[in-house]
Formats: sequence, structure tokens, C-alpha cells
Amino acid sequence: MQVPSYEAAKKRTKNETLIRDFKMPLKYQKIGAGKKFFLKTYGCQMNEHDSENIKGMLEAMSFSEVDEMEDADFILLNTCSIRENAHNKAFGMLGRIKHLKQSNPKIITALCGCMAQEEGVVAEILKKYKFVNFVFGTHNLDDLPKLLANSFKDQKLNIEVKSQEGDIVENIPVSRVSKYKAYVNIIYGCDKFCTYCIVPYTRGKQRSRKKEDIIKEVKELVKDGYQEVTLLGQNVNAYGKDLYEDYELADLLIDISKTNIPRIRFLTSHPWDFSDKLIEAIKNYPNILNFVHLPVQSGNNRILKLMGRRYTREKYKELFDKLKSIEGISITTDIIVGFPGETEEEFLDTLDLVNYCKYDSAFTFIYSKRENTPAAKLKDDVTLKEKEERLYRLNDLVNKYSLESNQRMLNKTYDVLVEGFSNKEGMLFGYTETNKLVNFKGQEELIGKILKVKITDAKSFSLDGELVE
Ligand code: SAH
Ligand code: SF4
Ligand code: F3S
Repeated sequence: MQVPSYEAAKKRTKNETLIRDFKMPLKYQKIGAGKKFFLKTYGCQMNEHDSENIKGMLEAMSFSEVDEMEDADFILLNTCSIRENAHNKAFGMLGRIKHLKQSNPKIITALCGCMAQEEGVVAEILKKYKFVNFVFGTHNLDDLPKLLANSFKDQKLNIEVKSQEGDIVENIPVSRVSKYKAYVNIIYGCDKFCTYCIVPYTRGKQRSRKKEDIIKEVKELVKDGYQEVTLLGQNVNAYGKDLYEDYELADLLIDISKTNIPRIRFLTSHPWDFSDKLIEAIKNYPNILNFVHLPVQSGNNRILKLMGRRYTREKYKELFDKLKSIEGISITTDIIVGFPGETEEEFLDTLDLVNYCKYDSAFTFIYSKRENTPAAKLKDDVTLKEKEERLYRLNDLVNKYSLESNQRMLNKTYDVLVEGFSNKEGMLFGYTETNKLVNFKGQEELIGKILKVKITDAKSFSLDGELVE
């Protein structure tokens, strides 16, 4: 039993990151034969990719996946802490599982992901959700086989969560959702400690994977026919800083570019670490896609400072302009409204910045107070009604610019990676290099290919098109 600690999660040392190599013990490889698992994933791409590793491990233990929770022998929730509603959803699921377990006490239930790293969440599970069999965290995903095997023997609640810093585990089996595009972790954790954000506590110290391991993974993906990789990290622009003297994200992208994978994306960029070398790399290498997600969070300098974002509105605009000089680039962002004490005027600065940047699209959020973060101590006199009203106004503006940017694509032809059937019959869907969703008529055999599609209709959130023979 090891419970998480907020105190330990805050710490950062100069200790070298430990790299472990995953091996599935022989004795676990048949444990799941004939048994079924249900995995529910909340949160960001990082969590989605962790779930691909979780699936990989479970399949290596001979479990098979089911779509309905009711059919499962093992139910696992991979959770997210970023905002209160993600939290509430996971606790809601636990309520449903409790019900299920009353009629079938043999079901094994576990919780992992970012919420598992929260001291308060684990305390609540120990108090109110004792039917849960085990909890493990983001730093010991590889403990799953052992914990699961043990819980088949002993149903008592077990908590195994490490709070400090985190290691890197290589070679965890992976069962990817897509055959054409893949997530590849390049950097774990976050050391930015933006004052509203819980991630530095749930994901630990910033630590880069070795470039050799990353490049090897991408080369294998190329061999397997993958068309696109998305390099993942909470702040990918900090790649290499903890590991190399003179090797940064731009160098990694250039090396990956040479594997000839047709498309390379990277997520998420913090404006603070965005180098000129990186801008040049995007400009000069066709398979490093013209697409940058550049969260701004607020357009007001006082709020940015309170958020601990380390840039001003002016600096952000400067970087934005440099990036915009790349032909055909698409820039998207994240924005928070209703940060504690944000005034109407300060909110108007955010709208003003959106008017300047005219983002291709934006994820917008109402500030959500996260336990144990510095911003949670700030006085907040903005009512929820006001915050909701700001969000509506912001979304109206953001959607206007999304539509305009899509309309600029009308009657032009773009490369689209076809991913599968869309909801409408006979229609396929895929994404342009700039990450725009396109629906068009086509046959199954086109799935997985990069094809030329002419845009015929533009909406706020998607485009319609037709194949160009
Ligand atoms: N590492 C990424 C973002 C990770 S979280 C970055 O820094 O850009 C994704 C988004 O969630 C953030 O960009 C932010 O807009 C939002 N977010 C994070 N914490 C939040 C909170 N406490 N309340 C509301 N939104 C939040
Ligand atoms: Fe959170 Fe800031 Fe780190 Fe992004 S950079 S994960 S917002 S602390
Ligand atoms: Fe959520 Fe954790 Fe990702 S808090 S957004 S799952 S890093």
C-alpha cells in the first residue's frame, strides 16, 4: 500500500531519471484467458496513449476487450484531473460500478491515471468507494499486470501510487487504436507549474525520452505502414533540455523527418520554449506539418502573470506573427475564461487577442479550481453566471474565425489522410495537414491513404469535399 502525497508530488530534484524496461512475466501471460476487460479513458492524448499501453499489457495477459461495462470481468477507469467535470464523470462511473458489483461481486475494478495521483481522490476512495480493488498511478503503469493478478487472489483494496518525479518505462506493449496514425511520447511530466494547473503534480518531473528510443519507435511505425505520428508531451518544446546539451525539439523533428514518415505533428507547445530553429524546421521540412497548437490562456498581462505563464501578450503576438509567416500554417489555441478575479476589461483583452490571431480553432474552458494548486488560494469574485456568459461570447468569436478559416479553403485542393467511414452512409472522413476534418464520398479501400480532396463546403467544425481523380 502506497498512497499519493501532495507534498512529494510538488518536489523536483536533480536526480537522474531512471529508465526501466518492461517485461511481461511468463506467469501472467495466460491469466486473462477467457476473461474480458472494459477500459474507459478520460482526458488528453497522453491518457489516450497510456490506454493504448494498458490495452497492450492486458492483451499480452490474454484478456479481450468488450464495449459494454456489464460484460466485463475487469473494469478500469483511466482518469483525468484537469477540470472538475472530468473528476465528476469518473466518480459518477464509480457509482454505476458499485451498483454492478452488488449483483456481481466478482468483477474486479481499478482506477488509474491523473486522479489516482491526487491525495484527496485516494482518501475519498478509501472512505467511500472501498469496493474498488486497486489504484495505480501515472508513474507505475507497468505495475498493472502484478496488481491485477494479485486482485484475482485477494479482493482487498490496494493502493499503489508513487508521487515523486517519475521514471521512464520503455517497451510496454501497445495496442494502437489506429493503423494509420500513432501517438509517440517524447517527453513526460511538466515543470511549468502554471498556477491553475494540476498536471505538474499528476505527471511529475519533466523528463525526455532518449532520441534513439523515439526514432526507433517511429522507424517501426513506418515499417508497419503508419502515415502519421503525433509526438506527445505536456510541453514538447522543452524536449531534450533535461537530457542533452545541444539537442532540442527541432533536432528531433528533423531526425524523425528523415525516417520519411509522411506526416509529423507535435503537441503541446508552450510559447515560452518556442525556438527560431523550430520555426525554421516547420518551414523547411514538408513532412513536419504546418500545424501548431499554441495555448495562450488569456490575452491580459495581469492574468497571464497570475497564471504563471511566463510571457506577455506582446511576446505571444511576436511569436504568433513569426509562425504566421509560414505559408499555409494553421494555429490553434486553448483559452481559460473566469480565472480568479478576471475583470470584464481583462476578458475583453482576451477577445481582442482572438480578433488579432483569428485562430483556426480554439479549445475554450471556464476556469476550474483544482485542489492544492496555487490559484486555488486566490480570491474569486467572478460569478459562475458571468463566467458562462464570457465563455459564450468567446465561443461566438472563436467559431466565427473557424468558419472564416474553413471558408478560405473553398474550391482548393488539399491532401487528406483518410481515416474511416463517417457517420453518413457512403462517406469517408479524414484530416488535412492542418488538422481540418473533411468528409467526402469514397470507398473502403481508400482508408489509410493520403489523397487529394477538393473542398466544396465549409462549416465551423468541418469541411465537405470531393475526391480529385
Ligand atoms: N500542457 C498544455 C495543456 C494541458 S491541459 C499546455 O500548457 O498548453 C489543456 C488545457 O486545459 C490547458 O491549455 C488549459 O487551457 C486548460 N486547463 C488546465 N487547467 C485548467 C483549469 N484548472 N481550469 C480550466 N482549464 C484548465
Ligand atoms: Fe499545465 Fe502549464 Fe504544464 Fe501545460 S504547461 S501542463 S498548463 S502547468
Ligand atoms: Fe487530464 Fe492528466 Fe491529461 S489531468 S488532461 S489526463 S495529463
